[in-house]
Amino acid sequence: MNGIPVESEVQNIMIRQAVEQYQQDSEEMMAHHVPVMFNEILEYLKPSSEAVFVDGTLGLGGHAEAILRLIGPAGRLIGIDRDERSLRQAQERLAPFSQQCAFIHDDFRNVDTVLRRLEIPSVDGILLDLGVSSFQLDDPQRGFSLRFDGPLDMRLDQDSPISAYDLVNSLSEKELSAIIKDYGQERWHSRIARYLVSERVKHPIETTQELREIILRAIPYRNYKEKIHPATRTFQAFRIAVNRELEALEVALDRCVASLKPNGRIAVIAFHSLEDKIVKEKFRSMARAGQVRLLVKKPLRPSEQESTQNPRARSARLRIAERI
Ligand SMILES: C[S@@+](CC[C@H](N)C(=O)[O-])C[C@H]1O[C@@H](n2cnc3c(N)ncnc32)[C@H](O)[C@@H]1O
Repeated sequence: MNGIPVESEVQNIMIRQAVEQYQQDSEEMMAHHVPVMFNEILEYLKPSSEAVFVDGTLGLGGHAEAILRLIGPAGRLIGIDRDERSLRQAQERLAPFSQQCAFIHDDFRNVDTVLRRLEIPSVDGILLDLGVSSFQLDDPQRGFSLRFDGPLDMRLDQDSPISAYDLVNSLSEKELSAIIKDYGQERWHSRIARYLVSERVKHPIETTQELREIILRAIPYRNYKEKIHPATRTFQAFRIAVNRELEALEVALDRCVASLKPNGRIAVIAFHSLEDKIVKEKFRSMARAGQVRLLVKKPLRPSEQESTQNPRARSARLRIAERI
């Protein structure tokens, strides 16, 4: 079953109102951060009055705010984020709903223990909107962006002991090459690793600009033809490795589904094929085991209009499953 599910007219009206309200209230916020596949998330997660939801990637609380409006004062939202600064921003934004919210600084892979601590046995819906937010990308100090110079950090959780600096400056050439190949799917992985190792002998590689320039030197110029910056894949690889993003996702999906009530739904937005492959395979194997039904066979993609308005949405793929 692909496409938009048929919902009661009342629910559709409420969703439309939430979208309109959001657009009016958040124009300034929208300039900085636009929640991806916003309408599709609301249409499939169907937040209804009094429901209990987990937003495992709270970010700046864009999706969460809309969910809160729909679940009303008797509903509850548990917002989780590994990034304490994002969590604080979301907490400020969602202050009008503070009675209904719990803000948890944790990894979504621990969703089951978080819910146990809050004495919530199961929930109606879970959202994972993976990756980093524009708030994180646009802060040079976080070291995620190719565009700005900043320290080689890339940690989502500032308490985490290992940064991109540690990986780039201490892993062996073989290990660097494997990370760039496996997590960046970069064909020039061996050359990039070799260049990194020969540069760091002279002095440690400390900034995003240094990393970017070494990568540019390593990739033969004739390959600079793509739409994306040639260093994009290597930056993605280090970010995934620093935050162990794929392991977190793999573990989290089972725990999320186990935390849903019967007919509860999980929606996952992935931004690259490595993430989407994990979601696809996990959901399929859970469907075969009779744990979930898949609400879309192929991932939903953002509309052309959304992709034009928000270039960051372009690579999004949304999959939704319902607990049996
Ligand atoms: C794309 S943003 C989410 C944006 C959010 N949906 C909104 O509307 O504002 C992803 C967020 O997930 C967080 N995150 C990524 N991986 C995480 C994990 N394993 N556990 C908890 N939070 C994570 C990031 O710190 C970031 O704030």
